[in-house]
Amino acid sequence: MPRVVLLGPPGAGKGTQAGPLAAELGVPHLSTGDLLRAAVAKATSLGAEADGYMRAGHLVPDELVLRILRARLSEPDARAGFVLDGYPRNRAQAETLAALVAVDDVLYFELPEEVLLGRLTQRRSCPRCGRVYNLSTRPPRSPGRCDVEGAELLQRSDDRPEAVRVRLATYREQTEPLLQYYAGAGLLRRLDALGSTEEVGRRLRAALRLPNV
Ligand code: AP5
Repeated sequence: MPRVVLLGPPGAGKGTQAGPLAAELGVPHLSTGDLLRAAVAKATSLGAEADGYMRAGHLVPDELVLRILRARLSEPDARAGFVLDGYPRNRAQAETLAALVAVDDVLYFELPEEVLLGRLTQRRSCPRCGRVYNLSTRPPRSPGRCDVEGAELLQRSDDRPEAVRVRLATYREQTEPLLQYYAGAGLLRRLDALGSTEEVGRRLRAALRLPNV
C-alpha cells in the first residue's frame, strides 16, 4: 500500500509529478491545496474561512486543513494508499499525520529559489479541469486557452509576487524544519527537482523505495 508524501517549496513541481505518479501507483493524488481551492470555489463555510489565508500566502489553520484532509482520507479510494502533496506543512501537521497513517516515503523536491519564482509567476491553470500550464516550460497549444477545455487560463491569486514572497518565507520558517524531522525518522529522500518534467519524474521513481515502481 504506497503512502507517499511529496515535500518541497511552492512551485517545486510537486503537483505536476504527483498526478502521473499516483495514476501509475493506482492510488489517489491528495493535494490539500486543491482540496482547499475546491472548497473556496464551492463557497463552503470552510472555503470562506480558508480563502483569506490562501490569497495572502499564509498557511490555513491546522484544524481546518485537518478537517478537509481527514474527510478525503476516509474515502474508499484512499484505503489503497495515496500520493500526498501539500501536507504536512509544519511540525504539528507532521505529528498529526503520523498518528493517522504510517508513511512509506517522503520525497523532498530541492530547487533554487530563483527558479521557483520563475515557475510560479509563469504558472496558469484551467478553471474547469485544473490542468496546469507554464507560459515558458509547458505552454498551451493556443495562447491563453486550455488544450482540453478551451477555457481561458487563469493565474492563481497566490501566484502574485506579494503572496509568493509570503509563501516562500512561510515555507522556510515552518515547512523546511520538517526535513530534519523526516530525516530523523529515516523516511526522507532528496530529489534534484531541476530539469525537465520527464527527468524529474525519472529521478522521483528512482528515489522511491516502493516495489514495482
Ligand atoms: P498548494 O496548492 O499546496 O501550493 P504550494 O505548496 O505552494 O505548491 P504549488 O502548487 O505552488 O507548487 P507545486 O510544487 O505543486 O508546483 P507545480 O507542479 O504546480 O497550497 C496553496 C495554499 O493552500 C497554501 O499557501 C496555503 O495557504 C494552503 N494550504 C495548502 N496545504 C496546506 C496545509 N497543509 N496547511 C496549511 N495551509 C495549506 O509547478 C509549478 C509550475 O512549474 C507550473 O507552471 C508547472 O507547469 C511548472 N513545472 C513543474 N515542473 C517543472 C519542470 N520540471 N520544469 C519546468 N517547469 C515545471
